[in-house]
Amino acid sequence: MPEPKIEIVRGGPMLVDGLPLGRLRHEGDVWRVERIETPSRTYALCRCGASSEMPLCDRTAPYACFDEQPPTGPEPAPYRWDVPDPTGPPALALKPDGPVRVAGFARITYGDRELSPRDRVSLCRCGESRCQPLCDSSHKVVGYRG
Ligand code: FES
Repeated sequence: MPEPKIEIVRGGPMLVDGLPLGRLRHEGDVWRVERIETPSRTYALCRCGASSEMPLCDRTAPYACFDEQPPTGPEPAPYRWDVPDPTGPPALALKPDGPVRVAGFARITYGDRELSPRDRVSLCRCGESRCQPLCDSSHKVVGYRG
């Protein structure tokens, strides 16, 4: 079985291979991950917020979904969430109206570079972060829904 990985396309989606898709749901005062079925172990998640098939990208290669600018903002502070479990195997979950949380040192590439492995990282899916591909909370400013 190939190693799970996420390939982030500049100006396009994140291509996920081998990480089941989940969505965070708030129950009482805890977050849980609810599984979302995908057609296969590989799928493309929208990173611009404009897809008609959210949360999936509705385009095909070479995508060109949005005009991705080089980072202009500071690196976000370390992420502090605990769901999905950062100490568990690689896992991925969509935060409602927010980023994609990736836990467990999943392998992530962004264009031609590899991100340093982390126990948790939040990846922008609203297209508005000033520190792509990381979430810098700009989704709150722009009122992203997805
Ligand atoms: S999802 Fe885009 S900045 Fe958070």
